[in-house]
Amino acid sequence: MSPTSASPTSAISASAAGSFRIGGERAVHRLGFGAMRLTGPGIWGEPADRAEALRTLKALPELGVDFIDTADSYGPEVSEKLIREALHPYEGLFVATKAGLLRPGPSVWTPNGKPDYLIGQAHRSRELLGVERIDLWQLHRIDPAVPRDEQFAAVRQLLDEGVIRFAGLSEVSVEDIEAARRVFPVATVQNRYNLADRASEAVLDYCERNAIGFIPWFPLAAGDLARPGGVVDALAHKYAASPGQIALAWVLKRSPVMLPIPGTSKRAHLEENVAAASIALSEEDFAGLSAPARP
Ligand SMILES: NC(=O)c1ccc[n+]([C@@H]2O[C@H](COP(=O)([O-])OP(=O)(O)OC[C@H]3O[C@@H](n4cnc5c(N)ncnc54)[C@H](OP(=O)(O)O)[C@@H]3O)[C@@H](O)[C@H]2O)c1
Repeated sequence: MSPTSASPTSAISASAAGSFRIGGERAVHRLGFGAMRLTGPGIWGEPADRAEALRTLKALPELGVDFIDTADSYGPEVSEKLIREALHPYEGLFVATKAGLLRPGPSVWTPNGKPDYLIGQAHRSRELLGVERIDLWQLHRIDPAVPRDEQFAAVRQLLDEGVIRFAGLSEVSVEDIEAARRVFPVATVQNRYNLADRASEAVLDYCERNAIGFIPWFPLAAGDLARPGGVVDALAHKYAASPGQIALAWVLKRSPVMLPIPGTSKRAHLEENVAAASIALSEEDFAGLSAPARP
């Protein structure tokens, strides 16, 4: 994957969100794409409309989206295979994947942090994506049944052997991140975070202080704030935007290390999400949105 960012050819562009350097090195546009929703119901099997899923992926470069998040377990393997089919050899794109959380059936997640398993899955993702080295590989969950340092040592090994270029964590506490940083450089952290769910504020602040990319999943959610007459609804009218766009504009403004990855299987939804990169919330509106759900 080349070190330059994809050049957008559309008026709507993720570049409007600015860039972040992953690991202090590789710049990506801050508004990325989550590839979990490309699979079938329950994140299981092939998508209902495979052609539309491929069209959505193929639109990413022209919309300036150069950061894609996936996992071995999405499908399983379905998401990684679709990404390869649509976008290989990934010129200007940065593809992140994960392992450590299995999908044994629809809507079921099981952690597996055994070092040999993690290493085997990273090799499998490399094969499925068709790359020599994975741009960013994330430990999907710390498995409570395996000593955490053994899982971190597996990540260290993947970095040392050049299987992966950067490494990240998912659903972790500040204490987990500090423990991991004693073993390998943590480039990114991926926790659930959105306007309505701010349980990871302390983790986000820690990431900001340490120049670690923070990848909020479920970034489109605004919960009750989006109800008719609510604060998000009011601002959606003011900015001629959708509530989801306001939620995305808010997370982007919340921190310069924020890398939201809204997920969709539909090209029209992708365009709507990318257009949120151009919404500049006023300080007053940002503060008005920030206050109600602060933990
Ligand atoms: N690390 C983790 O544990 C973890 C967990 C969950 C997710 N993730 C990652 O985070 C990404 C995003 O999370 P998420 O998918 O849970 O949440 P999300 O991106 O906030 O929401 C996705 C949902 O919103 C719909 N949607 C997207 N854009 C829309 C639009 N413009 N208008 C109307 N509906 C829209 C999608 O359906 P349509 O397909 O119909 O658009 C989908 O059902 C995932 O793709 C995955 O890469 C990570």
